[in-house]
Amino acid sequence: MSADRKYRVLLTGASRGIGKAIAVALSDKAERIFLLGRDKKALDEVASLISGVDVIVLAGDVADVKFCAEVESLVAARGGINVLINNAGISDFCAFERQSQETIEKLLQVNLLAPIQLSQQLLPRLLREPSAQIINIGSTFSYIAYPGFATYSATKFGLRGFTEALGRELADTSVRVRLFSPRATKTDINSPEVTRLNQQLGTFEDDPAEVARQFVFFLTQRQTEYRVGFPEKLFAKINQIFPGVVSKSLHKQLPLIRQALASISTKS
Ligand SMILES: NC(=O)c1ccc[n+]([C@@H]2O[C@H](COP(=O)([O-])OP(=O)(O)OC[C@H]3O[C@@H](n4cnc5c(N)ncnc54)[C@H](OP(=O)(O)O)[C@@H]3O)[C@@H](O)[C@H]2O)c1
Repeated sequence: MSADRKYRVLLTGASRGIGKAIAVALSDKAERIFLLGRDKKALDEVASLISGVDVIVLAGDVADVKFCAEVESLVAARGGINVLINNAGISDFCAFERQSQETIEKLLQVNLLAPIQLSQQLLPRLLREPSAQIINIGSTFSYIAYPGFATYSATKFGLRGFTEALGRELADTSVRVRLFSPRATKTDINSPEVTRLNQQLGTFEDDPAEVARQFVFFLTQRQTEYRVGFPEKLFAKINQIFPGVVSKSLHKQLPLIRQALASISTKS
């Protein structure tokens, strides 16, 4: 194996958006990449974009506990990993009182429970590696809880808490646990209403390729957390120290946010 290709990666949510861009960007850094998602055809297409790397497609649903339990043995059978990237995620921009129980449960399962379960299942193997990482994909909403995204923000705050606690628990081991947090990015996760709202609020949306470039930089560095975007980094800090200041600023955005929420006609 070339010294440059030291990563053996399991990447969830690899079929589209940020995950797809990360998979492609890892081409010259990884020895092996397991691409996980529900859409096998899309994963095969991503695999065809990557050359010089051992690519294995794992088609399945991270919300399916049985499938997650199988992932460990599937990965072990093909030589194991030293990096787990919990990227698969879903969102739902919705007035909280109208959000369905089913959507709430799905958000918690995919965004929070699945990364926790996959981390636990793969941890014994990761601990046997001389150096290994679990990288969870957070969000600006891991730091700033946002109106219209109450449950999504809860999952991303939860993921940050999990990352911090597990990282501290494993501080004397070979496994580092880290959080990479994109800001708004041009992918399918954002509904047309969210994209329109971002435009109205002047919220910048990154290209997935740029997010992936910053992710690969983060992968090779030591810091525990990385947030994409300067104003977002600053607002996250302000929110930690003076949450009232951010609440006031978001209060001013509420009329536009309510308008966007009202434009979503059916219960999600
Ligand atoms: N885009 C943004 O604005 C933004 C901002 C901050 C953070 N993030 C975070 O970045 C991550 C990637 O999001 P994205 O923007 O790239 O979204 P995306 O384009 O919608 O892609 C989501 C990925 O997750 C996979 N996925 C969803 N549900 C799954 C399930 N139950 N089982 C397995 N895979 C599943 C999807 O694959 P299949 O549909 O094929 O299963 C897809 O590959 C998420 O964690 C998201 O919260 C995104």
